[in-house]
Amino acid sequence: MKSRIKYICTNCGYDSLRWLGRCPECGEWQSFTEEIIETKKNKDVSAKTLSAYKLNDIPPASEERIKTNIGEFDRILGGGFIPGSVILLGGDPGIGKSTLAMQVASSIHKTVLYVTGEESVQQIRLRSSRLNIKNEDLYILAETDLHSILKTVKSLNPVLVIFDSIQTMSRSDFENSAGTITQIRECTSRILEEAKKAQFTALIIGHVTKEGIIAGPKILEHIVDTVINFEGESGSVYRILRTQKNRFGSTNEIGIFEMMSTGLEEVKNPSSIFLGSRNINNSGSAVTASIEGTRPILLEVQALVTPSHYGNPQRITTGFDSRRLSILLAVLERRASLRLSASNVFLNLAGGVRIDEPAIDLAVCCSVASGLLDKVVNNKTVLVGEVGLGGEIREVSSTEKRILEAEKLGFQEIIIPLSNKKAFESGSIKIKRVSHLTEALRLILG
Ligand SMILES: Nc1ncnc2c1ncn2[C@@H]1O[C@H](COP(=O)(O)OP(=O)(O)OP(=O)(O)O)[C@@H](O)[C@H]1O
Ligand SMILES: [Mg+2]
Ligand SMILES: [Zn+2]
Repeated sequence: MKSRIKYICTNCGYDSLRWLGRCPECGEWQSFTEEIIETKKNKDVSAKTLSAYKLNDIPPASEERIKTNIGEFDRILGGGFIPGSVILLGGDPGIGKSTLAMQVASSIHKTVLYVTGEESVQQIRLRSSRLNIKNEDLYILAETDLHSILKTVKSLNPVLVIFDSIQTMSRSDFENSAGTITQIRECTSRILEEAKKAQFTALIIGHVTKEGIIAGPKILEHIVDTVINFEGESGSVYRILRTQKNRFGSTNEIGIFEMMSTGLEEVKNPSSIFLGSRNINNSGSAVTASIEGTRPILLEVQALVTPSHYGNPQRITTGFDSRRLSILLAVLERRASLRLSASNVFLNLAGGVRIDEPAIDLAVCCSVASGLLDKVVNNKTVLVGEVGLGGEIREVSSTEKRILEAEKLGFQEIIIPLSNKKAFESGSIKIKRVSHLTEALRLILG
């Protein structure tokens, strides 16, 4: 074994023999840390010829998933845990990762091992009694040495092992201290190996650095099967679980929870929450129907438009891409003759969600126009449509789901793109089709 010093980018894992101020791979500044790299000599001495499988001869793996009975959690995984898979759960400090993991652990009625490197078993006990968790088959281990942990796993034979957190775990066969890129990577690949062999699911908790990324994220993302992030606006009780990568399911599902003193509660009907505290007589407010994964969510877009007294108007968004807003403002200015260049525009998606779907463009444009002209949008109207650079309203997917959700929540009218030619079955809700932004604005604001 030979060891030497290398410099590794903490963001993407790029390594270099000398320290660099900026990573040539991912462009991050000041991201290099010094690490000891051990390399084994004569790598191919142990290599041997192996027999490969013919695809058709591989015995089918059981597609059986382990359900946690926390519906929102199972759904984002694609229907539960796959035995032998490794899941990375990331999130800001204090967001509720340990709470979620604890609740997941307790809702599976099979042997589960919860390994904590951050808290004492007493602290875990305290949390579990606050969450009112009683589970005969839940084992707690306060340990950071990975080899000992995996030995314990062998003797306990659990279906799920939780590692809280990966930054505290370390392997004694590496000199680096816990939390370094090398330890994080090597521990994770060891866990992966063992999980595949013994067919347990590993749920690895990872902290997010202040740049908003899981430390060593790029490296871990490649290794693990599934990456989920736990998010929430500070001050909000709502938490959103989002899949970023999933080898066993779709990646655009979100799970919504509310943080209570007794733990996380699933939010089964998100639309009612996002619309709950709406002030229906305000200008600058418009409701849209977005599809998150397979589920429609109605939410309010709020725009505040104020005169800008300095040459440089502000455009600030929460929950919406600010570049997209700039584009839509330019479209409003050019195609609908609204003067926005001398106005500050603040845009907010109520409830602390983040939506990247272009189908909410029309609602964004209408809320800005409503804010600028100080005219209220009918509070029983839902707006759906992508806005093109020419001001044309473009077709969106899953229109029917959006219509049904709007109808279910008592809306009376929904504006959709004209190009959605399909005739929709609708009961009480009136469907109006528009082809251009000016047409939509005329319809909504007169
Ligand atoms: N007694 C309590 N009543 C209500 N909520 C609480 C209580 N104690 C903790 N919480 C909530 O739980 C959150 C902490 O949850 P948890 O410890 O699961 O977070 P975490 O993401 O694991 O944090 P860390 O990064 O420190 O490990 C707090 O931010 C708070 O919202
Ligand atoms: Mg924790
Ligand atoms: Zn990098």
